[in-house]
Amino acid sequence: MHQQNHLFIFFIAFYLFSLCFGSFHENPLPVSQYYDLFFGHYPRVASLYTFRNTDFRSSMMTKTRQDRGSSLSGSPKIINVDDFGAKGNGQDDSEAFELAWKEACSSRKATLLVPKGRTYHLKPITFSGPCRAPLTLKINGMIKASPRMSDYDNDRRHWLKFEGVDNFIVEGNGIINGNGRKWWQNSCKVNKELPCRGAPTAVTFYQCINLVVANLMFKNAQQMHLTFQKCTNIKALNLRVVAPGNSPNTDGIHITETQNAIIRNCVIGTGDDCISIVSGSRNVQAMDITCGPGHGISIGSLGAENSEAEVSNIRVNRALMSGTSNGVRIKTWQGGSGYAKNIMFQNIVMNNVSNPIIIDQNYCDKKESCPEQNSAVKVSNVVYKNIRGTSASDDAIKFDCSKSFPCQEVSLLGVHIVGQGDEVATASCENVRLKSRWRVYPQC
Ligand SMILES: *[C@@H]1O[C@H](CO)[C@@H](O)[C@H](O)[C@H]1NC(C)=O
Repeated sequence: MHQQNHLFIFFIAFYLFSLCFGSFHENPLPVSQYYDLFFGHYPRVASLYTFRNTDFRSSMMTKTRQDRGSSLSGSPKIINVDDFGAKGNGQDDSEAFELAWKEACSSRKATLLVPKGRTYHLKPITFSGPCRAPLTLKINGMIKASPRMSDYDNDRRHWLKFEGVDNFIVEGNGIINGNGRKWWQNSCKVNKELPCRGAPTAVTFYQCINLVVANLMFKNAQQMHLTFQKCTNIKALNLRVVAPGNSPNTDGIHITETQNAIIRNCVIGTGDDCISIVSGSRNVQAMDITCGPGHGISIGSLGAENSEAEVSNIRVNRALMSGTSNGVRIKTWQGGSGYAKNIMFQNIVMNNVSNPIIIDQNYCDKKESCPEQNSAVKVSNVVYKNIRGTSASDDAIKFDCSKSFPCQEVSLLGVHIVGQGDEVATASCENVRLKSRWRVYPQC
């Protein structure tokens, strides 16, 4: 009896341990379900997941091996786009990619290869799942977007879209080039005469579960570079995202309606947010991020056009922001509802950043000004910890919260921001309830 008890306790302990430290591939559900129970307020996604791509790969391999039962050959079938007629000679290669995708997606175990050394031109394409087995897309060459705007007549918002593909790895040392100059010139932000119409996101992952995007470079997207929408369990690792600082709305990595996301070790410099996290997202962790030029790391905008927004459990840990127009920002429109809560920004260095710490609940990104409204997306439990560096404007710390729903439980712990050059760093705190404050400069 006694021994049985011991065994039982050991088993429970082991089970909990494997929940916490097992790879998410095997335990995708427990992570989110038990998360709050075990770890309380803040996302501790880091300890839940293993980070290295190889870990994920080996867990995928294990699964595949099980799937294959007693089959012997271990290496995946390489499916090369060149074998389906891709030329990489400046002509359109879309058809070859579509054929190669069909083959790879219906194979038992495949790597779809875009070989190095050439540039493949693609029109908008949707690569759809579900696929028969876990799939790797290896991009070693360059994929470049068709610059002809009429090619996007069917769907102006997407260039490359991966839809419903689970257990999917996209990696390689290649480049995905949105070739966006034409779109930038035709943006209403650049040419004020033109009406505001959307432009394509270069790469969209839509409704994907267990996804790794690693080691690639994204550049010059038509609008956003990389979007995860309605996905679960995703990792974006070792990515570089590059576009000119004046290219309009070219967000680096955009997370929307997505749960359990890790963005790690990414260098992002574009014309808009390096990382933007919007409604329906929770358990998102961004770490080891280098950002600039750009608009910084943003939660929001939320609550546009009186919409409801829910964002929770977000952690940004270890980031260097250089010359960006914001550092860490929460932005909500007046008139929205819902919440942004349990948010932690820590270990961040600001280098000549215009608004290093900002909560803006009166966000308005329209040509005409926005009317005052009573409702707001509620902001609560936001921690700023160990944030230092220089501000390019006077506003080192700016909390501009809603009159009707002040920001709640905001903590500043070890924050030290001085003016760059002649600027005098100041802090302003409108409608904010500070929970704790320890070693803060400047103070409001
Ligand atoms: C700091 O940023 C401002 C505004 O973005 C810019 O004009 C200035 O040249 C920058 N200073 C340094 C030293 O980089």
